[in-house]
Amino acid sequence: MTRKKIVVFTGAGVSADSGIATFRDADGLWANYRIEEVCTPEALRHNRAKVIEFYNLRRKESLTKSPNEGHRAIASMEEWADVVVITQNVDNLHEQAGSKRVVHLHGELMKLRSERNPDLIYDINEGWEQELDARGEDGALLRPHIVFFGESVPMFDPACKIVSKADILIVVGTSLAVYPAAALVYYVRDKQVPIYLVDPGNPDTSNIRNPLTHIKERGAIGVPQLIAQLKDELTKEG
Ligand code: APR
Repeated sequence: MTRKKIVVFTGAGVSADSGIATFRDADGLWANYRIEEVCTPEALRHNRAKVIEFYNLRRKESLTKSPNEGHRAIASMEEWADVVVITQNVDNLHEQAGSKRVVHLHGELMKLRSERNPDLIYDINEGWEQELDARGEDGALLRPHIVFFGESVPMFDPACKIVSKADILIVVGTSLAVYPAAALVYYVRDKQVPIYLVDPGNPDTSNIRNPLTHIKERGAIGVPQLIAQLKDELTKEG
């Protein structure tokens, strides 16, 4: 029996049950910070200290968080399916839960990169703090390895190719409000590919024409349930 190709497309909601704030819920990050002040190239240019501090605080907080049952169920699928996780999240909870193939569309909190050469990327192995004047080997200042609003999303095209090969698309914890990431749901190879959505809220699925199953549950509850059901269906077949 060939292993099904399953793509799991996640947003902040999958990490909500690990205690990491989402962006657009009532207590979300954007309720407490202005995007223009901390997550744009202009902010980095004109307000560097505030941007670096914002990501230092998020990094410090993320070090105290662990994967939840949703992350772990997604990682467990690799035992019986060909799984790729495409996440909008910058935390590394999917990797910590054991997922081996994770594509980060919006960057990674535990990495920095040269402001001059985007290919010069550095892991933050020790602690959480980026020094304000930290520089790369090219002598340029370092910046968070995060895709700011208004910047290109270099991993989007590779992500579209991955989604176009999926037999099943699972979407967890994203409002589908930010493009181009949200457009990924339209890159499945045809209108027959089933899409499963796990989210207690109501993401914008109005233009999805594929068979759509919405499990209105938190990720830590709904994802394990869905994956157990899919495993039963897909591994029972002759
Ligand atoms: N389990 C699952 N989903 C949840 C949970 C939970 N416990 N709590 C909230 N959600 C859902 C919300 O209903 C919403 O649909 O998670 C989603 C969070 O949406 P956003 O806060 O908009 O987060 P996201 O979709 O990941 O944002 C996309 O926007 O600000 C940028 O770069 C940032 O990657 C981010 C992008």
